[in-house]
Amino acid sequence: MDTSQSSKQPRPTVGVVRETNDGERRVALVPKVVATLRGKGLDVIVESGAGLGALMPDELYEEAGATIGDAWSADVVLKVAAPNAQETARLRAGQKLIGFLAPRTNETGIAALADAGVEAYAVEAIPRISRAQVMDALSSQANVAGYKSVVLAASESTRYFPMLTTAAGTVKPATVLVLGVGVAGLQALATAKRLGGRVTGYDVRPEVADQVRSVGAQWLDLGIDAAGEGGYARELTEDERAQQQQALEDAIKGFDVVITTALVPGRPAPRLVTAAAVEGMKPGSVIVDLAGETGGNCEITEPGQTVVKHGVTICSPLNLPATMPEHSSELYSKNLYALIELMLDEGGALAPDFDDEVLAAACVTRKEATP
Ligand code: NAI
Repeated sequence: MDTSQSSKQPRPTVGVVRETNDGERRVALVPKVVATLRGKGLDVIVESGAGLGALMPDELYEEAGATIGDAWSADVVLKVAAPNAQETARLRAGQKLIGFLAPRTNETGIAALADAGVEAYAVEAIPRISRAQVMDALSSQANVAGYKSVVLAASESTRYFPMLTTAAGTVKPATVLVLGVGVAGLQALATAKRLGGRVTGYDVRPEVADQVRSVGAQWLDLGIDAAGEGGYARELTEDERAQQQQALEDAIKGFDVVITTALVPGRPAPRLVTAAAVEGMKPGSVIVDLAGETGGNCEITEPGQTVVKHGVTICSPLNLPATMPEHSSELYSKNLYALIELMLDEGGALAPDFDDEVLAAACVTRKEATP
């Protein structure tokens, strides 16, 4: 039963459009969450085929109460990736758009949305505060990427992860090092541990050490403290970088698998693994570099490619969440639902309060109200 909206007021509409980027299989809203939105007094319009990549056909959306139609005309348009120029041309002034809009790097796209008068919300700009955790799409998707990075490493590896005692002899467990222990890194550590690896985590924020230990991993301490603002790291100085690279070069030699996830927001990916460090690894070892989008944490990463150098396989997948579209879409939908819920006023109308720090931060283009 609907809990809001008088029968005289039109129900706000939410549009779910089909993603068009190569390889993108996620959908911004799954059928399960359609029913929840309807319960809040919103109607949902789905572009035909929007959920197909995530194995969610139109019929499932219809069964959940959505209509199949012109999703681009809705009051709020939901996307995964930022719209391209043709898609932006389909939006109208005052319409709301929510998605991964890449506000730090997609200057042209954001300017086009501003010119069109679109009220655009970038999920990357949601602050990482406790109250907003339920909306934190960067985290929900990084979690998927952290898990999948380990599955990929195990698949590329020429060795077992777990210790095995068999009639034919005993196999030692794989040693796994995770560099950068934010959301993706912590999930990578936990997943590698579950697979039976002997795991170690490293970060420049010393407060992460306890989280690393809590998932059964060892903490690698290189004596560099670069904790920055808002739970992120600061960029290292030249001296610190040289010291870190040298120390890691020595440490990395002993690992079968290295997963890198280090990030400083708005900066190129920190270079943690030098070519010399790769050369020092045993042939058959694997590096999975999640930071390819911003240039890579490994000096010889080729973003989007898998290469073999000195016998070491270096993978740099760019969109791992799209390879697990069912769960990544489900989690993303719940993030978006929480953000939409925050925009509703007591009467169930879409009326975002920009005194709210989450909405103020997430909204990257809007027409200022005239005084
Ligand atoms: P996060 O911000 O939660 O974690 C990044 C961590 O890197 C932080 O703990 C930070 O302290 C650490 N760090 C920064 N500089 C460092 C340095 N010099 N040495 C060691 N650690 C350092 O980020 P999140 O959400 O976990 O994402 C991690 C990376 O994975 C990002 O580059 C992100 O773009 C990428 N990613 C890639 C995906 C893919 O499919 N390839 C999908 C999702 C995320």
